[in-house]
Amino acid sequence: MADNTFEMEFSWPSDDVPLPGQFFSLRCADSTDPLLRRPFAFSGFNAHSARASFIYLRRGRSTTLLSQLGVGAQIDILGPLGKGFSPPAAGRMPLLAAGGIGFGPILFLYDHLMSQGFSPRLFYGARTASLVPRDRLPQGSIICSDDGSSGRAGTVLDAMVAEGIPESASLYACGPGPMLKALAAKAGQLALPCQVAIEQHMACGVGACMGCSVKVKDERKFARACVEGPVFNAEELIWD
Ligand code: FES
Repeated sequence: MADNTFEMEFSWPSDDVPLPGQFFSLRCADSTDPLLRRPFAFSGFNAHSARASFIYLRRGRSTTLLSQLGVGAQIDILGPLGKGFSPPAAGRMPLLAAGGIGFGPILFLYDHLMSQGFSPRLFYGARTASLVPRDRLPQGSIICSDDGSSGRAGTVLDAMVAEGIPESASLYACGPGPMLKALAAKAGQLALPCQVAIEQHMACGVGACMGCSVKVKDERKFARACVEGPVFNAEELIWD
C-alpha cells in the first residue's frame, strides 16, 4: 500500500462479525517463533465474501514473516476482541482522522458509516509522501504530511481546522498519541463528541495481564485497552 505498509485479507469463518475499532490477536500457525500473539485492528469486513482484512507496518520479525506469506497460507487468529466505535447520533457529521497505521480501523469505520447512510469525511496524516496509501484512501479524503511532500503541510488537526469543523461534527480518530491528544483537546474545547482508538502495547489481549492499562478519570482509575477499549470516549481518558 505504501512504504513497508501491507494489507492482508483472510477468510473469516465465524458468525461473530467484527466491528470497526475491534481487533484480533494473530500468530503464524506453523511457527512458535515469535511465540507471542500480536494485536492487529481490522481494516475491513465483507459479510458476503466472509473476508476480513487488516493493515500492518513491516517493522519486526512477526510482521516480516506475515509479509512473506503466500495465498492460501494459514494464520492463527483469536477475535474479534475489544470494544469498537459507536455510530454517531442521527444528523451528526462524522469527521474521521487517521495517522500512520491507524488508517486500518478508520478505513473500516469509513466503509461502515457509508453503508449506514452517513457521509463521513476522512483526514489522513503521515510523516512523508512515501507512507501515504493513496490507492486505498476514499475519494475526497484530505491528505496531510509533516514535511509537506503530500497534500497539506501540517497535522491532521491543522487540516480539519482549515476545512472548518461543523457544530454537528462527531470526531473519530486512530493514530499516534500526540495526534489523539490534540484532537481530544480540540473536541473538548468545542464540546464535540470524540471517540479514539488507542494503540497500546498488549500482551495477553484478553484482559488478564493489565499490561495495556490506560489512565481514566472515573473511580476505576485504570481501564484495559484490550477489553474496555481500544475505543474510548476521549473525555474518559487522562491525557498525560
Ligand atoms: Fe493483557 Fe490487556 S493485554 S489485559
